Amino acid sequence: MMDLLINVIAFAFMLSLTGYAVALGIGNWKIATVNARTAHIERELLRKRIDQITDEQRMSREKSDASWNGFRKFEVMRKNPEGGGICSFYLTPHDKKPLPPFAPGQYLTFQLPIPGERKPVIRCYSLSDSPHHPNYYRVSIKAVPPPRDKPEAPPGLSSNFFHDSLNEADILDVKAPGGQFFLDTTKHTPVVLIGGGIGLTPLLSMLNTICESGSNREVWFFYGVRNSSEHVMKEHLEQLNAEYENLRLMVCYSNPGDDDVAGRDYQHGERVSVNLFQRVLPSSNYNFYMCGPPPMMNTVVPELTAWGVPEKDIHFEAFGPATVKKATPEKSAEEKAAAAAAAESIEVVFAKSGKTLQWDAEADSILEFAEDNEIAIDFGCRAGNCGTCITAVRSGEVDYVVEPGAAPEAGSCLTCISVPKSSITLDA
Ligand SMILES: Cc1cc2nc3c(=O)[nH]c(=O)nc-3n(C[C@H](O)[C@H](O)[C@H](O)COP(=O)(O)OP(=O)(O)OC[C@H]3O[C@@H](n4cnc5c(N)ncnc54)[C@H](O)[C@@H]3O)c2cc1C
Ligand code: FES
Repeated sequence: MMDLLINVIAFAFMLSLTGYAVALGIGNWKIATVNARTAHIERELLRKRIDQITDEQRMSREKSDASWNGFRKFEVMRKNPEGGGICSFYLTPHDKKPLPPFAPGQYLTFQLPIPGERKPVIRCYSLSDSPHHPNYYRVSIKAVPPPRDKPEAPPGLSSNFFHDSLNEADILDVKAPGGQFFLDTTKHTPVVLIGGGIGLTPLLSMLNTICESGSNREVWFFYGVRNSSEHVMKEHLEQLNAEYENLRLMVCYSNPGDDDVAGRDYQHGERVSVNLFQRVLPSSNYNFYMCGPPPMMNTVVPELTAWGVPEKDIHFEAFGPATVKKATPEKSAEEKAAAAAAAESIEVVFAKSGKTLQWDAEADSILEFAEDNEIAIDFGCRAGNCGTCITAVRSGEVDYVVEPGAAPEAGSCLTCISVPKSSITLDA
């Protein structure tokens, strides 16, 4: 039916062109050939556009049919070590019902019953493959070690739980895909995708999506790591680079190892920077998508703005509270006592829940305080990135413990990273 429609439109288009040529008295065969070719190109473009619209409509239908509220049980279908301390987990829904598609760049939120923890641990992990695999979601997780300057600290809770304690056939509680950092797949404008370290994951999902959809969208893929010991998905990326003419792969090693070979293992022996973009990109006229460690984000994002890239074309996400942290020096005993005394005068009114509570100076955030008092506020990243925990402030003001990834709307606050400045009334 669709084919018939396309052919009828293309035929009508060709007839109109030919008729136009005859009317002008130019009825030679060369023009007819050009007309036929033009009609063929038009027909292909039309077919692509119709396929795209059909795909978008199907995905939005499937999304609303198959999405879910709260947590859903998933089974670990496959656990695949990727090297570099990273392991991929392929997850299928335990109820075997369809999976909603997601936008490449979005993430899943997990609720993990980690032994020894007072309450379930909540963490987000980006989907690392394209949404074109209806039978699984994939996340790729780096086992986080203790900080270098504090080797005695316990290693990352959730990431090491995934690596050490989760196996195939284990069950996990997972929230539906969410997040505002995603590729606009309805557009075909050229993109620069920039992944640093484990920040590769959402960009990989975007890249796989573009390639698998057969789009000719121009893609520059910058991947920054220290050297080959951190270089994951190497074979996969090289294969895509060889297969897709619209893709330019730029692997950057900031500190190449003795056995690492320029041109074979990596393209640039330097950090990802705007200076590098200026040397290799034809212009700054791209949509930039970026996720990486704090030093990379804190330099590249402002440098892009300084290069003249409009803010609307710079999209980025930080993993966890990686956004610029406010300097909060360790409090002295007197300061702690003063904070506790100040907290006594701060009342938090959760208007919808009908609760008025005295603020707890020990609480890390309004979100945590609400949860401790059995008031439910939706959340995703718990790091000021996703906007899920946004809550209207009816009166009063908040202080941000870390800078929000995206400024919340006026009259509202991100409860996961804020504390009350004075007595406050919230719409929760
Ligand atoms: C939107 C989003 C997407 C993400 N996607 C991914 C992804 O695709 N892949 C991925 O790997 N990660 C991803 N993350 C990061 C992930 O959510 C976790 O933040 C990460 O795995 C670390 O969590 P953890 O529980 O393992 O570590 P945590 O337990 O939170 O610990 C963090 C660090 O603190 C240290 N620490 C613990 N206790 C102490 C102490 N007492 N003193 C000093 N230091 C201490 C730990 O050793 C560790 O280095 C994403 C985050 C967000 C917000
Ligand atoms: S939970 Fe994501 S911004 Fe608060």
